Amino acid sequence: MNKTQDRVVIFDTTLRDGEQSPGATMTHDEKLEIAGMLDEMGVDIIEAGFPIASEGDFEAVRDIAEITKKAVICGLARANFKDIDRCWEAVRHSERPRIHTFIGTSPLHRAIPNLTMDEMAERIHETVSHARNLCDNIQWSPMDATRTEHDYLCRVVEIAIKAGATTINIPDTVGYTAPRESADLIRMLRERVPGADEIIFATHCHNDLGMATANALAAVDAGARQIECTINGLGERAGNTALEEVVMALKVRNDIMPYRTGVDTTKIMNISRRVADVSGFQVQFNKAVVGKNAFAHESGIHQDGMLKNPQNFEIMRPEDVGLSATNLVMGKHSGRAALRAKLHDLGYDLGDNQLKDVFVRFKELADRKKEVFDDDLIALMREAGTEVAREHMSVKFLRVICGTQAPQSADLVLSVDGVDHMVSASGDGPVDATFNAVKQIFPHNAQLKLYQVHAVTRGTDAQATVSVRLEEDGRIVNGQSSDTDTVVASAKAYVAALNRLIVRRQKTGTDRKEIDYRDTMQ
Ligand code: KIV
Ligand code: ZN
Repeated sequence: MNKTQDRVVIFDTTLRDGEQSPGATMTHDEKLEIAGMLDEMGVDIIEAGFPIASEGDFEAVRDIAEITKKAVICGLARANFKDIDRCWEAVRHSERPRIHTFIGTSPLHRAIPNLTMDEMAERIHETVSHARNLCDNIQWSPMDATRTEHDYLCRVVEIAIKAGATTINIPDTVGYTAPRESADLIRMLRERVPGADEIIFATHCHNDLGMATANALAAVDAGARQIECTINGLGERAGNTALEEVVMALKVRNDIMPYRTGVDTTKIMNISRRVADVSGFQVQFNKAVVGKNAFAHESGIHQDGMLKNPQNFEIMRPEDVGLSATNLVMGKHSGRAALRAKLHDLGYDLGDNQLKDVFVRFKELADRKKEVFDDDLIALMREAGTEVAREHMSVKFLRVICGTQAPQSADLVLSVDGVDHMVSASGDGPVDATFNAVKQIFPHNAQLKLYQVHAVTRGTDAQATVSVRLEEDGRIVNGQSSDTDTVVASAKAYVAALNRLIVRRQKTGTDRKEIDYRDTMQ
């Protein structure tokens, strides 16, 4: 192995493992857009979905396979012929297709389909051989590998290699391992399994103990050459290894980790924001690399040091991840050309019609706010994107009466499929009154699971971004909106979540919720 400049393959699973995160469901168009961005930034392999899970998943994988230019397009399949055939139907439209098939090999996971070790070994041989007869590029994963007995793990990895797997992925499904153990496991497999030199080992880490990125990098040091990751670390529970973390760690610490990736890091910020918007999972402020505070230096000592030499407190430059170095403030006198240039700096290249629409919104905002900062524009772009995507219902008019005298009340006009409905409602506070008004017009039993308000910038005229999460019959949906008026942002976020719920209700075919992910055979 060439230790000096070894290439590590980046496998992004935002659209599969990331989208599995409850509430992170993306629309078809959003998936295609994210896949395009991943391809353009140089991700090597895109896991585009789980084709058997639903008609929608199938169509998304097929369409991504058709349009993607550079990346390998991969789909997930459990250890049965039906899943594998369906996966192949979707990915075969790619110039570079891959089938990824898996089965849970740890004692706990073997118990679910109730197979003996021998029966499971036989099933792995049959399914990987079947997949290999369809496609040259096969990835196989022993799910929960980090809790599988070593002897059995070696045995099944050898069977998968002999049956034709070209990549063996070692998942830490429950985020249980630690860096040294992660490295030892890869080393052990490379030493003990016949044929290990012929294939690529991949590492797939979940973040339950906050060690996903460290575990992935340790595995690379031990010889793994594919890292599985998601944008913003999106994923079930505490998420997955974050793409931006591993890519930047390999770039910044190339001295001690001499591996390179093909990812253009200047595209990181843009895709991070877009994934946050479409998944409804906002990035925590102090998240490494992409958090709002990752390059902010507020304390006096830090600011002083930064002015003397940015390297005092910054190990990477904002430009390295695509943040614009300047923070030119916009105002109501700024023209269309300035707005276009500013949005370009922020990573948004708009056509003339789109710019026209965004310019109107910008002027409205600039009338209400003295200074429009980068984050205001990002929130504004999010608003524009959200409204185009889901417009069953929209808030037309809202007036609330609030203050010390209860009950607070709301007058609301809501447009539902083009027809305006007006109601008045009261509640325990202005937000409660507003939500009650929405419920009068659109009765539903969805439970409010999360209501969160963030100020986009500083000052009393700052925009507020409101996030709402709803649950109905096990379906979880998120909605978000920003406005200088917190109650208006709340109403719009609530309605955005309901719009998503309507889409989810209308989804035909088998919904992913009905698939038992742990029963890998079915
Ligand atoms: O975490 C996991 O084990 C997975 C497998 C399907 C690879 O996502
Ligand atoms: Zn996973």
